[in-house]
Amino acid sequence: MNKFFLDLGKQPLANNYSSSYKKNQIKYSLKLFFNTKNKMVSISKRIPSEKMFTNNYPYRSSMSKTMTNSFHKLSLEIKKRFKPKKILEIGSNDGALIKNFEKDKVIGVEPCNNLAQITSGKGYLTYNKYWNYNLAQKLKKKHGELDLIYSANTLTHISNLNDVFKSISYLLSTNGILIIEDPSLLECVKKVSYDQFYNEHIYLFSVISVTNFIKKFDLEIFDIKNLETHGGSIRYYIKSVKNKKVKVSNKVKNQFQKEKEFGLDKFNTYKKFAKKVKLSKKKLLNIFNKLKLKNKNVIGYGATAKAVTIINYCKIENDLIKNFVDTTPEKINQYMPGKNIKIIKYKKNSLDNVDYAFLGAWNFKKEIVSKEKKFLKKGGKFIIHVPFPKII
Ligand code: TYD
Repeated sequence: MNKFFLDLGKQPLANNYSSSYKKNQIKYSLKLFFNTKNKMVSISKRIPSEKMFTNNYPYRSSMSKTMTNSFHKLSLEIKKRFKPKKILEIGSNDGALIKNFEKDKVIGVEPCNNLAQITSGKGYLTYNKYWNYNLAQKLKKKHGELDLIYSANTLTHISNLNDVFKSISYLLSTNGILIIEDPSLLECVKKVSYDQFYNEHIYLFSVISVTNFIKKFDLEIFDIKNLETHGGSIRYYIKSVKNKKVKVSNKVKNQFQKEKEFGLDKFNTYKKFAKKVKLSKKKLLNIFNKLKLKNKNVIGYGATAKAVTIINYCKIENDLIKNFVDTTPEKINQYMPGKNIKIIKYKKNSLDNVDYAFLGAWNFKKEIVSKEKKFLKKGGKFIIHVPFPKII
């Protein structure tokens, strides 16, 4: 049974930036639910993928050093540890991972045409398609079974999870390896980072819920890695239960236990989380309102989808955040979805006259703080809302 625990209000499509402010932009309800049976946390309103993953999708994996380094490190591990003949990446985006492999060793699947064109333009075989059973059948006919399938921050975006895992287990060889990584529910609940939820993020995974969900496909997690990316993610290494060659690491049991001790399998944990979220909103607005009274120049740093959830849930207008700065070409001179707040191209001197910068990309805090030493030295300050709203 799905039990409701938090209403994040009416939200526009998170990555739907537009060149002018549209007052009557369509908004969808964003409500969070906990499944008491398989312990999965998900949002209720499902928006057709075609509306979200369009041909000018603005999210680019290669935009941050943190992400490109993480993908590079993973590619070295894959080559050494699993020695796959062929790798399939579901949601290959702009090629941040696949560019680390020889061209004849990787296949990309990417529904957003603008992104698929980047990798196919560089000579990487890329299917400009949504991941589903039809595509899995087509791929099996053409390439046979595959020994390594990888997907980062993609499977949680697909509503029909049953079809997702059915298609993967159909295409994966018996001794094949599936690696997925997505934001960690445990980290989200601990950090009160409710901005991990937006219309694209349909599910937030935990070791508990993934274990429960993949059982019916004869799949099991045999290893995990906690990552710092996206504010705390988990990389799940998955295999068929029929593959007896690979042992299940104690790390899986330990993480499962840690999540249980924190109460990720209990509805009450989410009720407490919801209370904390409401308090977080109050505190954040308090900070912004005080700075407004002092006439401070406040901007947003990183026009993330996460920030879209925050400004729409907290009803933050351009009197509190004047504009956002961002490095992504597709976001520049566009407006934050749902709000009359413009995104300006990030330049070295962007923060020269800024007093406070709200970290929309708080997950890159380390990278940003080290880049903005000059800003901090002259007395500039960042505002962050995790694990609770404060000025740093
Ligand atoms: P990310 O946190 O991955 O976003 P989302 O919530 O949308 O999944 O995206 C980071 C955004 O922050 C991206 O638009 C690029 C931007 N950014 C900067 O503008 N400057 C920076 O130094 C960094 C690290 C990111």
